[in-house]
Amino acid sequence: MIKPSSYKTAKLIWYHVWKYPKYVIPILFIVPVTVLVQSYLPPLILANVLNRLSKGSYKPHQVWSSFGGDLVLYAVLLIIGGVVMWRIVDAFGWTLEAAVERNLAERVYKHLISQSANFHANRFGGSLVSQTSKLLGAYVRIADTTIFQVLPLISGLIFTAIILFSRAPLFVVLLMTFSLVYIVLAIYLTRHVRDLASRHAQAESEVTAYLADSVTNVMAIKSFSGSRYEIEQFSKKTNKVRGRVYDLMGGSRVLMVYLSSATTIISGLSLSMAVIGVLVFKADLATVYLILSYTSAIAALLLTFGVQSLRTYNRAFGDASEMTATLAVEPEVKDPVHPEVSKIKEGAIEFRNVEFKHEGAGDVLFSNLNLKIKAGQKVGLVGHSGSGKTTFMRLLLRFSDIDGGEILIDGQNIAHLTQDDLRASIAYVPQEPIMFHRSLLENIRYGDFKATEKEVIKAAKLAHADDFINDLPEGYETLVGERGVKLSGGQRQRIAIARAMIKDAPILVLDEATSALDSDSELLIQDALWKLMEKHTAIVIAHRLSTIQKMDRIVVLEDGEVVEDGTHRDLIKAKGIYAQLWAHQSGGFIDE
Ligand SMILES: Nc1ncnc2c1ncn2[C@@H]1O[C@H](COP(=O)(O)OP(=O)(O)OP(=O)(O)O)[C@@H](O)[C@H]1O
Ligand SMILES: [Mg+2]
Repeated sequence: MIKPSSYKTAKLIWYHVWKYPKYVIPILFIVPVTVLVQSYLPPLILANVLNRLSKGSYKPHQVWSSFGGDLVLYAVLLIIGGVVMWRIVDAFGWTLEAAVERNLAERVYKHLISQSANFHANRFGGSLVSQTSKLLGAYVRIADTTIFQVLPLISGLIFTAIILFSRAPLFVVLLMTFSLVYIVLAIYLTRHVRDLASRHAQAESEVTAYLADSVTNVMAIKSFSGSRYEIEQFSKKTNKVRGRVYDLMGGSRVLMVYLSSATTIISGLSLSMAVIGVLVFKADLATVYLILSYTSAIAALLLTFGVQSLRTYNRAFGDASEMTATLAVEPEVKDPVHPEVSKIKEGAIEFRNVEFKHEGAGDVLFSNLNLKIKAGQKVGLVGHSGSGKTTFMRLLLRFSDIDGGEILIDGQNIAHLTQDDLRASIAYVPQEPIMFHRSLLENIRYGDFKATEKEVIKAAKLAHADDFINDLPEGYETLVGERGVKLSGGQRQRIAIARAMIKDAPILVLDEATSALDSDSELLIQDALWKLMEKHTAIVIAHRLSTIQKMDRIVVLEDGEVVEDGTHRDLIKAKGIYAQLWAHQSGGFIDE
């Protein structure tokens, strides 16, 4: 009856809630006491008064001294229960919710950050963001409903049973049976509404994801005059949400008719029981009064549960279901349980019988790839587009796990290290460097969080970025825009190079790191890069062959295989792919 996903969500939420027993236990204790004080003790006092009135056991002309105490107590209980105690519950509830919300948010954040590159490649960033906020919102609504509606209902049922059992056992049995049937039926009937709610949540996520994708690619939309097309597509999505809201509303309305009829039946039942009680069992006035007043309290609680609590639960569990599923995804690339201490120092690299196929790709990219790079060697990696150069580097960084073979650095299998230790020893400048929407200083310092401002500026100077940074209105404090859009392609590359320089790791990996620079700037940076490479092992991918011509060694990849391997001179002599590529380019770049 309860969906597996809702069960998982409930388990997830309980796991985080139970981290704070110092708030949970008081709530579990205070809520029933509050219900007792506010709704169950006052009728008992009135019943007692009624009892004495009906039996005439009071002093006729001294109404106040007979009943004053009861009335004062009655008023005090109402005030304490209704005002004071609920405020205390409120305070605990808020504190608990705030603590759990933080805890959940951190859990989700860590989870998303630890996922592999593939995980993120297969998902919309915007959708993950919306799933996160939906989960947090859902949690708060679930907690509120449980504390303020469901716990009072459970306590109410228990108190009614205890207090009335000695006076009207038959009635208690009937009422409890009816309430249980009602609750089970309500949950059963809302099944349909719950499905409608999760379909609605799904449609909403699609809207958010589409929105995020469009906003991120707004320049593509503009440059291809795609606005009209995009607006049409977007409105299809929003229309879908509207349709689902209507479905949900329709479903809920039908349900409400059932449920409110059922609670009316409860009230009717209590009235007839009261009448039967008086006529058949000669019940006293006090009992009749208690039956009526407790039943009307229970009926109200049941109606709230059926109409409101379940609806909130349904929508909230629907909202949370996507993130619950996302949280269940194990990271593809995992740190070993007992990681080895990193011994990486020199940066000798070996790919040994490496097999690799991209997830979802038709063909195997690397089958039995073998390549040894000596410590301190500078290797240029060349090959046609799609030959596997970037993938080679990403495997070295363990962004994906290989399907067979081993990748070793200084003799140590990289899968035996933590990902952080491995990547700490590689300075990587990706093909499309992406910046945080933070200051330039912070972006460069990302290579080494402990770097001083002086060191950052030194690295920027080496990467020939200092000049353009100083021309910016706020210098190193300038924000670079989302993903660095406020910088030119070449400027972004220079920041990425500065970042790699400041990292100063044993292995330097450059993927088309200077491709967006004009030849003059490239020559200048080459100088600095050579200096940096002197001390390190370096792998440099470049389509512009002049960039790598002076490397110790050039490796040519073709369809994931090493087809040529040697110095520039060797490969020119061999008259293979490299020589051909060189011939094409040397028109523009003179062989020195
Ligand atoms: N995440 C991915 N999922 C599936 N296939 C991928 C993925 N990334 C790359 N590929 C495929 O793997 C092959 C090698 O890609 P790779 O990026 O390594 O090429 P490359 O040599 O760096 O090319 P370029 O010179 O254009 O940068 C290509 O056919 C590409 O389509
Ligand atoms: Mg590439």
